[in-house]
Amino acid sequence: MKKKINSKKQKASHSQWSSRGVFLLAAIGSAVGLGNIWKFPYIVGENGGGAFVLVYLFCIVLVGVPVLIAEIALGKSVQSNPVSTFSTLAMACKASRFWALFGYVGIVSGFLILSFYSVVAGWSLEYLQVFIQNDLLGSDARAIEQYFTQLLASPNTLLLWHSVFMLLTVAIVARGIRKGIEKIIIWSMPILFVILVILVLYATQLEGFSKAFDYLFVADFSKLTTDGVLIALGHSFFTLSLGMGAMMVYGSYLQKDTPVVKLSFIIAIADTLVALMAGLAIFPLIFTYGLESTSGPSLLFISLPNALLSLPFGQFFGIAFFFLLLIAALSSAISILEPVVSFIQQKTRLSRHFVTYLIGSIVWLIGVGALLAFNDWSDVHLLGQRNIFDSLDYVTTSILLPLGGLGVSIFAVWVVSKQPNTRQLLGISDSKYPIWRISAGIIAPIVIGVIAWHGLN
Ligand code: PHE
Repeated sequence: MKKKINSKKQKASHSQWSSRGVFLLAAIGSAVGLGNIWKFPYIVGENGGGAFVLVYLFCIVLVGVPVLIAEIALGKSVQSNPVSTFSTLAMACKASRFWALFGYVGIVSGFLILSFYSVVAGWSLEYLQVFIQNDLLGSDARAIEQYFTQLLASPNTLLLWHSVFMLLTVAIVARGIRKGIEKIIIWSMPILFVILVILVLYATQLEGFSKAFDYLFVADFSKLTTDGVLIALGHSFFTLSLGMGAMMVYGSYLQKDTPVVKLSFIIAIADTLVALMAGLAIFPLIFTYGLESTSGPSLLFISLPNALLSLPFGQFFGIAFFFLLLIAALSSAISILEPVVSFIQQKTRLSRHFVTYLIGSIVWLIGVGALLAFNDWSDVHLLGQRNIFDSLDYVTTSILLPLGGLGVSIFAVWVVSKQPNTRQLLGISDSKYPIWRISAGIIAPIVIGVIAWHGLN
């Protein structure tokens, strides 16, 4: 069996990270993204603060980490793309070939997520430019709000930034793991952490800091809804980049003897810390200026600029903040594109360059639909009352990612690790093995099932 898996690997001529440290940076880069800095603060705001944060932490520990371990371990064991990881292991375990469907679910999710992800990342490019040129200097609250409304109403500007962001992403991924992804990650992740620490230190000096702290860490369960719980679960998958093969494919570039449990914990802790730090950087500003914490997706693009512009050195911190958002988004976007590229490239044997640009163009096109949802196509509803953008977000975050995660964990525990020969390939040490089996094979599926059931009813 091992031979079979090895020969597959050779055929695929799979790359490898230059070191474990680089893998960690890349995986943290994948996890830390718009999900942490844009989405987490606004969903906390919309769902009432502390109680939601607690449920979210609960989902990360109970569901996120065990699934993350499973995903990296599966990827590492076969060292191929997500679809062939499932099919190779299913074959080795004499299980149904239908398991490969979960690989395909991941590939489809990749296309869909990147298309709307890039649109939002485009907003950060626009605001980076706004702060560099100090365009909003002297504007009042109404003008700042209008600026964002007008941005959403102009398809051309949205298209410009969406295209620039997609081009950046494609240009990096096309160069491959070592020459593309690693080169960017190595400098961007340390910069991201330094900027975030500076922003939090700055926020601690503001009057609103203690209110923000209580808001994030004191739980008021009366504010929590069932919907909120589903959002927390979906977000724990989104923020850890689970359920679509991103972590699987990053794991596939690891050496076979790498211990995955410790690395998975480091990734999850770093990701959670960044989300909480983003909350601690943003909410003090919002509260100091008496602004609304419940403003939803526009929190970062209306409330935050509003607060920043009334502060000393606001321009400097604005540039730092939107640059941070951009590099966080970029290091995630490349990990959303990578599994799709590795699958199509290994399948078709076309050049990596060609495949990356081709897929990038399709994603770009779907993204055009997503950005038109804010203006010309705002009347087009796909799922219920949701426009194209919201439908893409809902289908991926609330349905496909949890489904993909469920597939990964059940497959890893109930198919792969049942066979002694394949169990070894996962590389989970004997002491941690029983706990992981219970959490990934029983607790995580039950939590996902119960929450999904409530959400869909
Ligand atoms: N984890 C990324 C974020 O929080 C998004 C992402 C989702 C990346 C799925 C890869 C795969 O922004």
